[in-house]
Amino acid sequence: MIYLNNAGTTWPKPEAVAEAIVRFNELPPSQWLAVFEEGIETVSSFFGISNPDRFLFTQSCTQALTTTFSDFAWQPGDRLIMSTMEHHALSRWFYKLQQERGVEGVIIPRGADSPFDLELFESELMKGARVVAVSMASNVSGEILPFEDIVRLSKQYGAFCLLDGAQTAGIIPIDIADLDPDIFVFAGHKGPFGTQGIGGLYISERVPMTCPSAACEITPGDKKSSVFPTYCDVGSAPMMTIAGLTAGIKWLESKGWDQLIAHRQKLVSQLRSGLASIDDIEVIGSQTYGRYTAAVSIRSASLSIKELKETLWNDHEILGSAGFQCAPLAHEALGTQEAGTFRLSVGPMNTEEEVKILLKEMSAI
Ligand SMILES: Cc1ncc(COP(=O)(O)O)c(C=O)c1O
Repeated sequence: MIYLNNAGTTWPKPEAVAEAIVRFNELPPSQWLAVFEEGIETVSSFFGISNPDRFLFTQSCTQALTTTFSDFAWQPGDRLIMSTMEHHALSRWFYKLQQERGVEGVIIPRGADSPFDLELFESELMKGARVVAVSMASNVSGEILPFEDIVRLSKQYGAFCLLDGAQTAGIIPIDIADLDPDIFVFAGHKGPFGTQGIGGLYISERVPMTCPSAACEITPGDKKSSVFPTYCDVGSAPMMTIAGLTAGIKWLESKGWDQLIAHRQKLVSQLRSGLASIDDIEVIGSQTYGRYTAAVSIRSASLSIKELKETLWNDHEILGSAGFQCAPLAHEALGTQEAGTFRLSVGPMNTEEEVKILLKEMSAI
């Protein structure tokens, strides 16, 4: 099989991930805390989080977003800004908060040749905003949003900035200490090579919020009641998936960013230019923007999205993602709201040879 759905979840996982999970299963409970602490330390160092007290393991990126949006102290009339490229895990809160908490929502459209109109964003910030929440990269088009400018401008105008790193964690280097967003969430099972069932949430000290929805009930009056839960305060920590994530991140670190970036850029440009050169194929999103993750979305003039996926899978065992990728608003913005797209996404385990085979079969189809 040629697996090209790494933006959905990375596969195959390094052997070390399975080994870490098996090892944890045999570990006596007296040693579990050490595994938890190693997980916190590994994640914090990988993302440049200088105050790990403000980091919380969650079971997914979706859960990290849910904890944030449900526990943040919203006031009626607060303005919440997001982009039009959001995944449903974030955008559903955008709508829910407007319906249930009196929040005013603003959506920033695509720019002329970019996934995010920065000028319009600044003009909306000038009107006042409490929170800006955006994905660092689109899970449909693979375009990386100008998240550095988004954080900088949010700060300048006094809004809290949340970055959804589901599509960038483990794909591009992220240094939280340097970037300094107010909130950062990520999925462990994608770029960082953990298994499904693990994600994370970082909340800077500037954000006056606690995470009661993530903590288990503590006896009233118990002064130890945690405002920002950690090991054992969150109920049972998902220890096996933490062990797997730690191993996934260590595997990435053993490769090194230089090698990972060079490999991704080689494969992504091979994929993007190869697909664009096939007459029948339209590559979705801006082709000149230039800042991409490892995902490319396409559609065909002669085959439906479903036919494209089925032909590649049935005849050639090539697996991509067909449909809306849980991002209906992004598809509206990209003009693909009717049938979605066929998304191909490479990872560190893919080879140039595999991309060559895909392009050859696509041309033949
Ligand atoms: C941008 C974005 N945010 C959030 C999520 C949800 O991540 P998880 O599967 O960890 O809940 C995804 C998953 O595809 C995503 O692409």
